[in-house]
Amino acid sequence: MKRAVLGVSGSVAAYRAADLARDLMRAGFEVRVCLTDSAEKFVTPALFEALTGQPCLVDTFEEPERGRMAHIDWARAADVLLIAPATANTLNKLASGVGDDMLTTLALAFRGPIALAPAMNPSMFAHPTTQASLAALAERGAVMIEPAEGDVACGENGQGKLAANERIVADTLGLAHRSERLKGKTVVITSGPTQEPIDDVRFLSNRSSGKMGIALCRAALALGARVIVISGPIQGVYPPPAEVIGVRTAAQMGAALRGALQEADWVIGAAAVADYRPAAPVAGKMRRSSENLSLELTPNEDLIAMAARESRAKVVGFAAEPTSDLAVAREKLARKGLFAIAANDVSAPGIGFESGENELSLVFADGKSVSSGRRTKLGCAVWLFEQLVG
Ligand code: PMT
Repeated sequence: MKRAVLGVSGSVAAYRAADLARDLMRAGFEVRVCLTDSAEKFVTPALFEALTGQPCLVDTFEEPERGRMAHIDWARAADVLLIAPATANTLNKLASGVGDDMLTTLALAFRGPIALAPAMNPSMFAHPTTQASLAALAERGAVMIEPAEGDVACGENGQGKLAANERIVADTLGLAHRSERLKGKTVVITSGPTQEPIDDVRFLSNRSSGKMGIALCRAALALGARVIVISGPIQGVYPPPAEVIGVRTAAQMGAALRGALQEADWVIGAAAVADYRPAAPVAGKMRRSSENLSLELTPNEDLIAMAARESRAKVVGFAAEPTSDLAVAREKLARKGLFAIAANDVSAPGIGFESGENELSLVFADGKSVSSGRRTKLGCAVWLFEQLVG
């Protein structure tokens, strides 16, 4: 389990740090929180201690353990330091090496990756001193999670709103797990639903939102892979520099997959590919009548079975099953000739299709299986690659 220190400085957006701490935990982090004095005017240590089950640091000289220096201990133990919200004052102090409170001394002692999520009045954000500090910190390797544009607490409109928690967690996870384990490797991900036309305006499809595919894409990029995503129509966005091939039908997904196979080291089949398509789609629009209507369906090609058969890539499937029993997943793994299969129980509330979380059981060809426990989809994706590539 990766350890994150969440530094909270004194912005109105400090109230969002409580949810952020929980979102980080759901993504698989152990979280410890450190507040500045100004942050304590907005939120309390007791809140974060209750949420995280860990002591919350504020005062440099109030050590939770006698005889130990928490700012050094925490800096040594953390895999990533996230400061969210990061105020102009805290950023300027970090840039010039000031260590006058627990958070800034901890940051000075920390040798790992730092993520900064600024939140402040737009004029303060645009101020040359703040921008110079951000540039200096970026030069030293800190990653800035850009604030959003919009209405801020003081009534002004502009860039200064704390970025969305989802984005902050994603970038922090990426940073904590950043490695070169997939450098030089190409990961091809199928994602989202397919749409199988009945006529020119209607289609057969399913509830896949592409969220699992987006999470897999982020995780593979963080591990240094070249990522090709072959996706059915979805609302979300795959993060750059992933190469995205948009498709509608299973046949189009199959053609795109065949085209990418020769370059693939890994194929991850997260798409909910329709097993059948209407045998004879109607040109134009089918007319209504009072008679029953039967739709003849014809089977689609099994795309990941084809990938396993026709390439040297390690092919990993997903099994969306309305049960936590792994018997069907094991049968699919063998029948499709896969390297491994990640089973998710799509009947359990809050996971599987459309939701932000999932719970995977990864079954390998040799029969071994491991479970992720319930996490955000990004947490599951990071966990999945950890199991696959160590
Ligand atoms: O997109 P989200 O809303 O985030 O939801 C995520 C998810 C539930 C869609 C995802 O986690 C998931 O389980 N994806 C697989 C869905 C599925 O179609 O499962 P299946 O058990 O029917 O298929 C087994 C495997 O064969 C899958 O890897 C599937 O991509 C693949 N398949 C299936 C049929 C087909 N014709 N070709 C295929 O490649």
